[in-house]
Order: sequence, then structure tokens, then C-alpha cells
Amino acid sequence: MAPPPARILEGVFGMLDHRVLVAICQAGVPEALTGPRRILDLAAELDADPAMLERLLRFAATRGWVGMDRRGRVRPNAVTAFLRHDHPGGWRAWVDFSGGEEVVTAVAGLTADSSRADGFAQANGAPFFEWMADHPDRWATFDRAMAAGGRMHGLVLAAALDWDGTESICDVGGGTGALAATLLEMLPGRRATVLDLPGVVERAVDHPRLTAVGGDAFEQVPPGFDTYLLVNVVHDWDDRDASRILQRVAEAAEGRARVVVVDSERTIVPRPDMAVAADVLMAALTDGGKERTASELRTLGRSAGLELDHSTRLASGDVAHVFGVRVGRVER
Ligand SMILES: C[S@@+](CC[C@H](N)C(=O)[O-])C[C@H]1O[C@@H](n2cnc3c(N)ncnc32)[C@H](O)[C@@H]1O
Repeated sequence: MAPPPARILEGVFGMLDHRVLVAICQAGVPEALTGPRRILDLAAELDADPAMLERLLRFAATRGWVGMDRRGRVRPNAVTAFLRHDHPGGWRAWVDFSGGEEVVTAVAGLTADSSRADGFAQANGAPFFEWMADHPDRWATFDRAMAAGGRMHGLVLAAALDWDGTESICDVGGGTGALAATLLEMLPGRRATVLDLPGVVERAVDHPRLTAVGGDAFEQVPPGFDTYLLVNVVHDWDDRDASRILQRVAEAAEGRARVVVVDSERTIVPRPDMAVAADVLMAALTDGGKERTASELRTLGRSAGLELDHSTRLASGDVAHVFGVRVGRVER
């Protein structure tokens, strides 16, 4: 445990982590760094200021984003590979998304001020998804960031859930279908539908067993599937709106399908993991979105006519909450 002043300064200097990561990516370091390089040569190739690039890369090396040897040469490591635009994991999109002015400004507005409502709208003039609809390039970047997590969740959900008895899957708020397409690759013979806003499904991936449907989950969710997925969707909304979406899903499930809600878990004692970060990010980007405890999700499910059957921790660190539909459903 570092002494208190060091912990305070760590917190203060934490603001530099994000900026340096964004800056080296914007400079093109991950793409240019295909082997050990002298920083002078790298700077010349990237048309960067050599002294400034060296300072950023020294910081990046201490964070593990690049390697640096005793001769001061910088070299790519596994993280650098993941930061490349052409890496199949697609995680660079998270840097591109989070480096956007609209995200940086919304995060800078985080406060405990009781008058604060929707931080993203206060910072940018419109709620998150409305703003994205007016900024197609940024929306596509957001979709790519979501797709990186979606591919990962496709893999972990295929392994963690029992898929016997499921022939058809509906991924509600499933973005461009990366999760569903990954899941289908792991589950031969099944078919899936991804439901998302019309502007998003225009960009949906091609897969022979995947159908993309544009719509509004607050209005209607397609009926007749065996499993409904909501992955990192419920945490975008306050309790009232989250319950409304779950009600539409419960109606679509027609008393027989299972409903799987995947989100980070809010634990009673906070842990230094992604869940606390995801919770604060929701505070910055949404109007009342948050991570919830399993007990809060059970209550939310009940308000929508769903009964929690069990919860499973996933290899991603998130938790899959598996609901069934209760008899005597909630009316609209
Ligand atoms: C945080 S993202 C999660 C995406 C995806 N499930 C994943 O895990 O990668 C939330 C998704 O909900 C979609 N969404 C927002 N409002 C919606 C609505 N009214 N109806 C359907 N989808 C909506 C967004 O477009 C976005 O793709």
C-alpha cells in the first residue's frame, strides 16, 4: 500500500493514462510499430515531434502498452498488437470511441452535484443515442467498440450457458450483430436475430443464420425465440426505462423463453475491477444508467414479469442473470 500522498498523486495523474493512450494511437504508433524501432526513426515515419513522442512512449512503456529496451528502442508487445486497427479483436475502437470530444467532455462533467441529471446531454446538448444519430461517424465508432465486447461475450456466453433446447436467439440491443454472429459460430444449427435501432442494423454483419431487425425495444421485441439476450443493455437505463424494455422482452418471450441479462455486477463492497469503472462510465454517458446488484436485478425483473432463476459469473467478469417469465405478467 503506497503512502497517502502517493495515492492522491496516483489519482491525479490517472487523468494522463487515458490521454496518453489516445495520443499514441492517434499518432499511429501501434500500426507503425511492427518491430523494435529507434524513437527518432518512428517519429520521422509518423511525422511526430521526436522528444514529445519519446516522453509519451516512456509513459506508455510503464503502463505496459509498448515495450522499451535498455537501448531506448521501443518495441511492440501483446497490448500494442491489440491496439492496431487491423487486430481482429477490434479493441482499438474503444480508444477511438473514448477519445472523442463528446465522451471526454461528458466524463469531465462528472460531479456529485444534486442538480445534475443526464451528464451526456448536459455536456453535448442531447442524450447519448440521439446525439449519436446526428453524428454517424461517431456512432459507427461506438458500434465498433461495442462489437469488440460483443465478440468476447459471444465466446464466453457460448461456453457458460446451457444451449440445449435453444434453437433460436434474439439479441436485444445487439448492435451490429457481432455477438450473435460469434455465438452462432460456436452453436451450429441455431439461428439468431439481432434487434437494434434502424441506423445501427444498417451496419449489421453478414452471417447466413443471422437476421437483423431495426426497431425500438421500448415499443416491441420480436416474439417466438427460445432465448432472449440483453448484453450491456439494461445498465444503459434507469429503473423505469430498464423495466419497460424488460416488459417488452417478457411479452415477446410468451411465457416459455428464457431471458438472459448480462451486465457488470455491483457488489456490496466495491472491488477494484471493471464493474466500478463501468458504473461511473454509465453515470457520465447516460440518464440514470447504472450497474446493479443481483438483488436489484431480481426486483427489476419482477417489475417486468420475469423471475430470476440463477446467475452465472462469466469469464469476461460480467454476470449472466437467467430469468424465466412469471405467470400473471405485468400489463403495459
Ligand atoms: C451499450 S450498447 C450494447 C451493445 C451490445 N449488446 C453489446 O454488448 O455489444 C447498447 C445498444 O442498445 C441499442 N439501443 C439503444 N436504444 C435502443 C432502442 N430503443 N431499441 C433497441 N436498441 C437500442 C444501442 O444502439 C446499442 O447498440
